Parts: sequence; C-alpha cells; structure tokens
Amino acid sequence: MKIHATVESMRAARAGMGARVALVPTMGNLHDGHIALMRAARECADSVVASIFVNRLQFGPAEDFDSYPRTLENDRARLEAAGVEHLFAPDETAMYPQPQRYHVDPAPTQAAILEGASRPGHLRGVATVVLKLLNIVQPDVALFGKKDYQQLMVLRNMVEQFALPVEIVAGETIRAADGLALSSRNGYLSADERAEAPRLARQLNALVKAVRAGECDFSRLEAAATAELIAHGWLPDYFTVRRRIDLQIPQGCDSELVVLAAARLGRTRLIDNMEI
Ligand code: PAF
Repeated sequence: MKIHATVESMRAARAGMGARVALVPTMGNLHDGHIALMRAARECADSVVASIFVNRLQFGPAEDFDSYPRTLENDRARLEAAGVEHLFAPDETAMYPQPQRYHVDPAPTQAAILEGASRPGHLRGVATVVLKLLNIVQPDVALFGKKDYQQLMVLRNMVEQFALPVEIVAGETIRAADGLALSSRNGYLSADERAEAPRLARQLNALVKAVRAGECDFSRLEAAATAELIAHGWLPDYFTVRRRIDLQIPQGCDSELVVLAAARLGRTRLIDNMEI
C-alpha cells in the first residue's frame, strides 16, 4: 500500500489508478465497520483509496479532538490486509496549509437539527473536509457508513447541490455480537459502561418492531425509550423517528422512516440509528 502524506503525492498517484476509483474517508482508529466499507469499495471499484485525517474543523472546542485515538500503525496493517492500495494520510499542515477560511455551510434544516443541535458546526466541518478530500482524490465513488446517518444525508445533498461528479455509496452499520454499533468512541467506555451500552440498540430495535407492527404514535414510543435510557443512567440528546430522505419529522407512518438516537453514557456520547 502506498502512503501519501501530501496533496501533490496523492494527486500524482491518482493519475495512474484504474478506471473506477473509490475513496473511503475516515478519521482512523479503524474497526470492522471501516473494514467492511473498504471491502465494499473493493467490490465497486478498480482502485481503493482510504484517507485518515482527524479533522479539527468538525470538533467543538469542548470535544475530544486532542484525545481522539490516533493509531496509524495498526490502521495501516488493517488497510493492507483489506487490499487497500493507497492511503492518504496528511497532517494538519498538508490538509490546512492556511487556516480554512472557506466552508461548506449545509442548510440549517439539515445541519442544525439532531447532531447539529448538540454539536453546532460539526456538519459544516464534515462537509468542508469531505469536499476537500473529494477534490484532492477525485474518486468516482465515495463510501460512508449509515452509522452517521445525518452525515450521510448532508453529504449526499452536498454532492447533489454542487453537481459533484462522484457517486455516494452507503455501508450498513456493523455491530458487536451484543448489538452495540461499532465506533471509535466505544473505546472510551469503562467495562461497566460497555456492558450497559447495547441498551441503546435494544431500544432502537424495540421501536422499529413496534412501528412495523403498526404502532404510529411515535411520541409515545420515543418517550418510552428515552425514559428507559434515563432510568439506566443515560443522558439522551435525542431519540426520534424521522423521514429517511431529509430527517424531518414525519406526518404519519407512510414515508420511509429511520429512528435515530444520541445519548451520553458517563463521559461517552454514543449515536446509533435503525431504518424502519
Ligand atoms: O465519519 C467520519 O469518520 C468523518 O466524519 C469523515 C467523514 C471522515 C470526515 O472527517
């Protein structure tokens, strides 16, 4: 696997790649969810590029930018084993040689709700870095996990609205045997918190089953799930049924739906979702 630390090196390598190039952007600390995306990329492209960059722009001032796990050696071995040919791993100076003064500002209806309400500016930071990564690598297809459902929706809209010549492909959330969605932040959980953490997925699953069985009083279901989490020591930010297409509040049971949740367990904020 070739490692590119600069934009110039990445661009030069792009010229010699196969007909269809896939990019899987990550912030590193790779888990099986990322590796599933690399494999999916292999299946839909001739050359696969992964990127690892912990993007300061998407972290709030009180968030975990400094302590976010950086595990490049281990990540590199996992990417090699998954058959990734190119890794773009710039440092901050290579990615942001000057302070970033231009940003992608997603519509507040999409980026100030849910994650955006709890993490102001987060999706602006994500969209800005992803636009930059797409410009640098110029992939034909870019893959993102459904675990970050709102991020995926915002990025799809960015690509559509700016007519970017790239296809966005979504990968399913990969879960531990007990249901917990894989995430780099799971590593922050203590042993007791890790044992408690699958409750979030169980509550999502229970709501999905209830709606599929015909229950359409979403507020009642959301309140019950929220109460259950609070009773077990969680601090929920949201637990809400939304339309898949734009994450707005549905009028009834007839649109395609997803239930999304974010909640703090101790000092760790977990997010998860399930399509209904
Ligand atoms: O999902 C992530 O890991 C990040 O938000 C992304 C898309 C790599 C942008 O920094």
